[in-house]
Amino acid sequence: MQTMSAVSFAVLLLISLATTNAHNITRILDKHPEFSTFNRYLTLTHLAGEINRRQTITVCAVDNAAMSSLVAKGLSLVTIKNVLSLHVFADYFGSKKLHQITKGSTSTATMYQATGEAPGTTGYVHITDVKGGKVKFTPEDNPTQTDVVYVKSIQELPYNISVIHISEVLQSPEAEAPTSAPDLNLTSLLQKDGCKAFYDLLSASGAIGTFLSTVDGGVTVFCPSDAAIKAFAPKYKNLTAEGKTSLLLYHGVPIYNSMGMLRSSNGLMNTLATEGANKYDFTVKNDGEDVKLKTKVVTAEITGTVIDDEPVAIYKIDKVLLPRELFKGTVEADEPAAAPKAAKKKKKPAKKGDKAEAPGPDSSDDYSDDDAADQTANSGGRLVASAVMALCFALVFV
Ligand SMILES: *[C@@H]1O[C@H](CO)[C@@H](O)[C@H](O)[C@H]1NC(C)=O
Ligand SMILES: *[C@@H]1O[C@H](CO)[C@@H](O)[C@H](O)[C@H]1NC(C)=O
Ligand SMILES: *[C@@H]1O[C@H](CO)[C@@H](O)[C@H](O)[C@H]1NC(C)=O
Ligand SMILES: *[C@@H]1O[C@H](CO)[C@@H](O)[C@H](O)[C@H]1NC(C)=O
Repeated sequence: MQTMSAVSFAVLLLISLATTNAHNITRILDKHPEFSTFNRYLTLTHLAGEINRRQTITVCAVDNAAMSSLVAKGLSLVTIKNVLSLHVFADYFGSKKLHQITKGSTSTATMYQATGEAPGTTGYVHITDVKGGKVKFTPEDNPTQTDVVYVKSIQELPYNISVIHISEVLQSPEAEAPTSAPDLNLTSLLQKDGCKAFYDLLSASGAIGTFLSTVDGGVTVFCPSDAAIKAFAPKYKNLTAEGKTSLLLYHGVPIYNSMGMLRSSNGLMNTLATEGANKYDFTVKNDGEDVKLKTKVVTAEITGTVIDDEPVAIYKIDKVLLPRELFKGTVEADEPAAAPKAAKKKKKPAKKGDKAEAPGPDSSDDYSDDDAADQTANSGGRLVASAVMALCFALVFV
């Protein structure tokens, strides 16, 4: 009997190891139909992806009956997102911890607080361990709400994610206040948050028009950092006008990709530059929390999110994406080789010397980056493998 439970415990551990740092709130709640509305709204508001991305988090789920009163308020999706993000704590509270709160009460920051849209302490929730084993939750900006209590634990993966059932929706006047629609103005979005240099190129080349025309149907923009653009300037200047446009369009994808979607999809991605035989594609490769974009010439990594709000996503990347069609020496490059010549004629010959540095050394740098990344992935794999071996040992000795 004891052996059996030890075995099933080990198997459970193995299963959770296999899904390491890949908790999926949608999947966790899928097993509990009484939370299906809450679950659906986590997906609709894209909170699910943000929850999956975080480590050390608590999700306070409310059942369908409690959700129906929230839905009946007819709030916009953006507002519902604010309300629900108040139900996600940036700390781990399992059942045990909830019932052992020091001095009986504590205050915890929520994901609503993390949005920066919650003024003052409105993004905080007060947790009180009331006598008699009851635990109460009260939004900081709504102290009169005293009806929200802990019901049960739904799933605990210490100390990554704890999903608990609470009795009612946490009500916060601030979170429920009407929010203006998110700013989906690509022009203004691209001009802030370190995308200015990229925007200037889009604007100067006219490529911005193509980006703007795709917004309605969804668009994902990968914006190289200002530093990356600066470092790339000599090579960029060397491109023909057509090459410049293609290179810029190569940084846009004509569909919306949330961070969650990028994290869960490996594969080829077409771009705004893709046209017939000119593939201009790259590969998305996710490695745990990281998302890498691999062209045949360079591997860039997503370093930040400017906006991820359907239908627009803008991510910052650490390198300029170099398409095989324009770079990588002279292999199968009749067109690009011929094109720069035409451009050069207009320029002063004195500058030619400066430009003699071929993309060669750079691209080999990039390849070694790649190797490093692969090695990290491998060592991750090795870690899991050794953990599995350790468990098998444990099994043998039970
Ligand atoms: C929590 O996440 C860490 C890091 O990803 C992982 O090693 C650990 O196994 C996870 N714990 C559980 C219980 O899933
Ligand atoms: C999470 O689980 C849901 C339902 O099983 C699935 O549709 C979704 O693709 C998963 N997300 C990730 C990031 O794995
Ligand atoms: C978008 O923002 C730019 C720059 O801030 C502004 O000039 C333009 O009028 C805006 N467009 C719309 C449709 O609001
Ligand atoms: C510019 O283009 C020429 C001709 O293709 C090439 O030889 C040179 O290395 C390039 N310069 C840079 C900085 O890429």
